[in-house]
Amino acid sequence: MHLQVKKAILPVAGLGTRFLPITKAIPKEMLAIIDRPMIQLIVEEALASGISQIILINGHHKGNIEDFFDTNYELNNVLAKKGDVANLKAVEKISNNGFICSLRQKEALGLGHAILCARPLIGNEPFAVLLGDDLIFTDAQTPPALAQLIENYYKTGIAQVALISVARAEIYKYGAAEGNVDPKNAHNFVINNLVEKPPQGTEKTDQAVVGRYVLTPAIWNILEKLPPSNDGEIQLTDALFKLMKVEGLMGYRFLGARVDAGDRIGYLRANLMHALLRPELRQDTISLMKELLQAN
Ligand code: G1P
Repeated sequence: MHLQVKKAILPVAGLGTRFLPITKAIPKEMLAIIDRPMIQLIVEEALASGISQIILINGHHKGNIEDFFDTNYELNNVLAKKGDVANLKAVEKISNNGFICSLRQKEALGLGHAILCARPLIGNEPFAVLLGDDLIFTDAQTPPALAQLIENYYKTGIAQVALISVARAEIYKYGAAEGNVDPKNAHNFVINNLVEKPPQGTEKTDQAVVGRYVLTPAIWNILEKLPPSNDGEIQLTDALFKLMKVEGLMGYRFLGARVDAGDRIGYLRANLMHALLRPELRQDTISLMKELLQAN
């Protein structure tokens, strides 16, 4: 029996340079997927996967992420007076759902460093990490991607990273996992090497790490001692490689559609996919897409 995965880290301190100019003033995580910020979708996935404590690793310039999860009394009063029960319930749910706290990453020293900031709040138990750019859509019959990884952690006791297959020419954008599919279970990928963003032309795999992880406390001492990589950042991928050597690391090829919402067309795709999954928006979205296709 393994300790339960109850806590999740959401690193949100990034500058969002891929999405300028809007990210000059609005955090990428607060960009809307139809009517809710991307970060809400990530938090909802975590909560639906059994997480009860969310730890945001934030930067000084992005306080409105914290405001979003706080109570807005003025708004609540106005909605209550108007008798707008539906909206009141929706906004109250955001501030009451789960326990969310926020830490500041005081220097931009990389993803590994961001995660290490949460060590005092997590301690000696397994935990999840979710990256805000990677939205993963699942249908109503399929558990959220993080829940699938947690389930596999309970089965195996081994730390998990989410994997997708990409075109080999694209692997330079990702953590690249080399190894083999488990012949007994096609979801499991036995990793024997992990390389952060391999230079183009050196790719040895089509298995890309995307932003869902279940990690064990052994990662803490590894991260603490890890030297920065060539770009000066403490890379999570380098720590995962060491964790693989010490305890093993499993790739999990989850069910679901992952979208890179930090990319412009990916962001558009995420909006359309989300709308198609919302019963009240689905038909109008299909009609709109048909109309635009015919007109172009
Ligand atoms: C990060 C990780 C990388 C992973 C990617 C998934 O990179 O370092 O290993 O493949 O997220 O989205 P980033 O895209 O933040 O540069």
